[in-house]
Amino acid sequence: MQEYRPLRIALLGAGSVGSQVARLLIENKAELAARVGAELELVGIAVRDIEKAAKAGVPKELLTTNAEDLILSADIVVEVMGGIEPARTYILQALNSGSDVVTANKALLATHGTELFDTAEQVGAQLYFEAAVGGAIPIIRPLRESLAGDKVNRIMGIVNGTTNYILDRMDSTGASFADALAEAQALGYAEADPTADVEAFDAAQKAAILASLAFHTEVPLEKVYREGITKITAEQIDAAKRDGYVIKILAIAERILENGVDAGVAVRVHPVLIDRKHPLGAVRGAFNAVFVEAEAAGELMFYGAGAGGVQTASAVLGDLVSAAKRHVAGGPGLADSVHANLPVLPIDRVQTRYQITLEATDQPGVLAKIANTFSAGNVSIETVEQSVRVLDGKRSKTATLEVGTHSATDAELSAVVKALEASESVESITSVIRVEGI
Ligand code: NDP
Ligand code: HSE
Repeated sequence: MQEYRPLRIALLGAGSVGSQVARLLIENKAELAARVGAELELVGIAVRDIEKAAKAGVPKELLTTNAEDLILSADIVVEVMGGIEPARTYILQALNSGSDVVTANKALLATHGTELFDTAEQVGAQLYFEAAVGGAIPIIRPLRESLAGDKVNRIMGIVNGTTNYILDRMDSTGASFADALAEAQALGYAEADPTADVEAFDAAQKAAILASLAFHTEVPLEKVYREGITKITAEQIDAAKRDGYVIKILAIAERILENGVDAGVAVRVHPVLIDRKHPLGAVRGAFNAVFVEAEAAGELMFYGAGAGGVQTASAVLGDLVSAAKRHVAGGPGLADSVHANLPVLPIDRVQTRYQITLEATDQPGVLAKIANTFSAGNVSIETVEQSVRVLDGKRSKTATLEVGTHSATDAELSAVVKALEASESVESITSVIRVEGI
């Protein structure tokens, strides 16, 4: 093969991910050059604080605070600084100057993806983003390329390591949410302000990205239904265990069919009960996994480290090698298609199953009244378990009812929950959770 000129790589950011990208680029220079057919020359690394990055071991001679000049000098720009601005402006500058861009920035893609992809298409450049969902796990390329000839019907993913860690600790040690969160913070999984993870903003961004690719449809972040894990109690975790379930927070993106034809797609993130034996039920600690159901391929599962500097750097470098090979081969970038343009439907239209736990007055006829509330709401009950709690030798005056439903629309199920809340026979509703994976 004829030797190509060295490709100039600009790195924006030298934090957890960027410092590892820089290290691997330098350490594996010869091997990468052999794979690509051109040397990957790291020409500069933009940061705000040069001394801080240098102290962390990033070669000082490569550091600069002048990101704009660095971008203009590069063939390929790697954006691992995070945030919306100036990352958005820098990526647009890079694309408009003809560079391919590799980014790990899910927040930016989920909010400004259309603008960035449109720009890339207009100028014939390519935007790569394998690291934006699932860290080291290859999931973007499988959806973008490997499954491009198939029809994806559903994706269910554990796409946030921090919340999976918290729920796993609650499950395995009986810890409360607050204690498990404190542990996740001590280990560096959760930030001091854990909102983005525990309130599922991070997972919603990833869900929007996955759904857009899977269904060839633009999925705006504000159309992703989102519920975090802050209200999950040790009692719910315990009850799930007794029933053979585990509580996970899943990102679910699926086609909604009506009369056998696509009515649209729905994308949601919320806690669920899932069978402990389901492949997603077995995902422990801070790991991520994405379960894909495709028409021809059937069920596929992608599993691995969803975060971590070096793990995420692996995905970034994979993209960088693809971008470099494309550069060497020449030709325009390949745009992702949103031709299907399916409506993004609200959660009301999703068919799901619920488990509802409530305290009911322990009197004759109460069970029948509660059953009537379900049937009036067009929701079929699948299982009912009744128990009476005994505390300090005294029987509770209320009966605990755990009702499992058949599949119904989320709108119907929510209406039944409202009716139960208003019922005189119901003292309190202690848990309402969707059941998935059956
Ligand atoms: P860090 O906060 O560790 O690092 C950010 C880096 O970007 C720092 O070097 C910082 O420099 C630099 N930076 C930030 N703003 C600017 C700016 N305005 N101009 C120049 N440099 C700037 O982030 P991570 O490495 O953790 O994350 C990077 C990206 O990767 C994010 O988009 C994140 O969502 C994504 N990602 C991260 C994962 C992880 O496990 N960490 C996993 C998957 C994706 P300075 O310190 O000088 O401010
Ligand atoms: N905060 C994220 C997580 C990092 O816990 O999964 C990776 O995007």
